[in-house]
Amino acid sequence: MSEELNIDFQATKKEKYESLLPQIASLIEGETNLIANLANISAALHQAFGWWWVGFYWVQNDELVLAPFQGPIACTRIGFGKGVCGTAWKEQKSQLVPNINAFAGHIACSSLSVSEIVIPIFDLHQNVIAVLDVDSEQSDLLDEMDVYYLEKVSEIITTNITKHKA
Ligand code: SME
Repeated sequence: MSEELNIDFQATKKEKYESLLPQIASLIEGETNLIANLANISAALHQAFGWWWVGFYWVQNDELVLAPFQGPIACTRIGFGKGVCGTAWKEQKSQLVPNINAFAGHIACSSLSVSEIVIPIFDLHQNVIAVLDVDSEQSDLLDEMDVYYLEKVSEIITTNITKHKA
């Protein structure tokens, strides 16, 4: 595995994702440790897009617990159905929140975040095992295209888990 990401910072967002997805797949290929893989994925996404905060919470019993991330310190535990993350878990559905002030129950880990995307990550049996959370301090940065490609990242993680359970 190459330990350098190839990112063209002049490229469009779509082009960046198209180039990044195969690199993320190869980054975690052959590694079975989920913490290591989530750590590298959050670093790769942060390197490529420079978001304010990007990382994971994973399901531990009845809560989401903070997992590998890049960015400022964050809240460690989120209940089922709470905030944007807990809602993505409960509804098993990606959440695009262009303005966090318009989302009732949003959990403000950082006062600088203004928009957010949360993507559920599933195991083989369609159970949510974690969520991928992206926070931006810009209001017009995150959109449906990010949801589309971040769901592909989620699928890469599911495939990785599947492969190693086989
Ligand atoms: N805003 C999230 C909490 C996690 S932090 O943004 C890192 C939420 O409402 O679930």
